[in-house]
Amino acid sequence: ASAALYLSQSGSAQKTTSLQAAPSSRNFPNDFLWGSATASYQVEGAVQEDGRGPSIWDTFSHTPGKTHHGDTGDIADDFYHRYPQDIQLMKELGLKACRFSVSWTRIFPSGTGAPNQRGLDFYHRMVDALLAVGIQPFCTLYHWDLPQPLQDRGGWENRDTAKAFADYAGYTAGKLSDKVSHFMTMNEMRTFVQQGYGDGTHAPGLIVGPKRLAQLTHHVVLAHGMGVQAIRASARPDTRVGIADNVTVTTPVIEIPEHIAAARVAMREENAMFQTVIQEGRYTELYLKRLAADAPHYTPEEMTIIRSPMDFVGINVYQPTWIRADHSDAGYAVVPAPSSYPRMFSPWLSVGPEGIYWATKLVADIWKVKEIYITENGSSSSDLIAPDGAVYDTDRVMFLRNYLTQMQRAISDGVPIKGYFLWSLLDNFEWADGYEKRFGIVYVDFATQKRTPKLSAMFYKNLIASNRIV
Ligand code: NOJ
Repeated sequence: ASAALYLSQSGSAQKTTSLQAAPSSRNFPNDFLWGSATASYQVEGAVQEDGRGPSIWDTFSHTPGKTHHGDTGDIADDFYHRYPQDIQLMKELGLKACRFSVSWTRIFPSGTGAPNQRGLDFYHRMVDALLAVGIQPFCTLYHWDLPQPLQDRGGWENRDTAKAFADYAGYTAGKLSDKVSHFMTMNEMRTFVQQGYGDGTHAPGLIVGPKRLAQLTHHVVLAHGMGVQAIRASARPDTRVGIADNVTVTTPVIEIPEHIAAARVAMREENAMFQTVIQEGRYTELYLKRLAADAPHYTPEEMTIIRSPMDFVGINVYQPTWIRADHSDAGYAVVPAPSSYPRMFSPWLSVGPEGIYWATKLVADIWKVKEIYITENGSSSSDLIAPDGAVYDTDRVMFLRNYLTQMQRAISDGVPIKGYFLWSLLDNFEWADGYEKRFGIVYVDFATQKRTPKLSAMFYKNLIASNRIV
């Protein structure tokens, strides 16, 4: 803005025009859905309100030493009360869609049993507010906040949790499907399985070993499949059902045929226990061979449920996994990143814009998926408020521009990507990293709850308005 101001004061309008960058040549499709994403425990706060029951994230974040500075989601962005203003902000940014998640324990405070109308009412109010300003709601049913009473009975290690999830998912989608067109069963199965039960860095904070891990992973994909069926049974017939999966983003180290072929093989194998079994209804031979005696128990009937057809696949894309061709059994190898590899503020978030191209292209190609959404993409940045009050997150803008350029490349190649949900609208509770790692395009001062759109919000707003990369 200051450069434009300078020019209009000192020179002619002609000069201003001559300095404008030529727009990128390709528009996104006219009906492309530009959105943002959030999750219940990360933004809502109000953890004691209107009959909400405790989830494993309440327990975990209140356990000393588990989160950065002992941060919790007790207040978070106070979205539970501030959603009207935040939805106004979405409108000002020109967002066309909003991905949110439902807190299971607002609907069923102890996980199963009698539903809690006051909890459901909140989502009705919030969805109504979105619809009133023309923003299309996309609903995730499980974004990691498992009811604590279910954890007390074994959590995902207990097969009954899959049934409880399906009951909750069916009930909730049935109530909301007059207003919500798209439902995702689960968000990032790999993350809550691996970090919740593999290394213990997320709730419920367990380390169970490979055998139990493989069995509970099976319960999770079973829950997804039972959830798909329960939603279909109770929601409006035109409801679209999918998932938000963080597939391992297998990306060829360089784009020559042998590495591309290896990345394709790796996409199936690295995701054998999640997207592959969901799409194909079977575990790959290599997966079972690698697990050997630790392989899960399952029945053919369960496999049929797990591969219940979906209407769309949502993919969360962050860091790439670089793949090269290899003569091993697997036919590929993962190339570790050199220590000088560029990363964003979160140490795990290595930069790989091509990942968004390859993840979507490979998923569409391997499983003939007709409708793909990027259900999350975004970056943490060490955002600072500048003396003029603004947040110049040039690194986040760089990150987004490059990933979006690769998404445009995929669309130009014919990959059926229908929408993009930026993670995230607001800085929020970044799980074990507490409030230290900020992913918002809107800065939140957690002491005052003041919202300040960052430079990246201006970038996104202009991109949406012109429907091109600016
Ligand atoms: C994945 C998760 O779905 C979301 O909850 C998290 O905040 C972002 N990625 C950033 O780590």
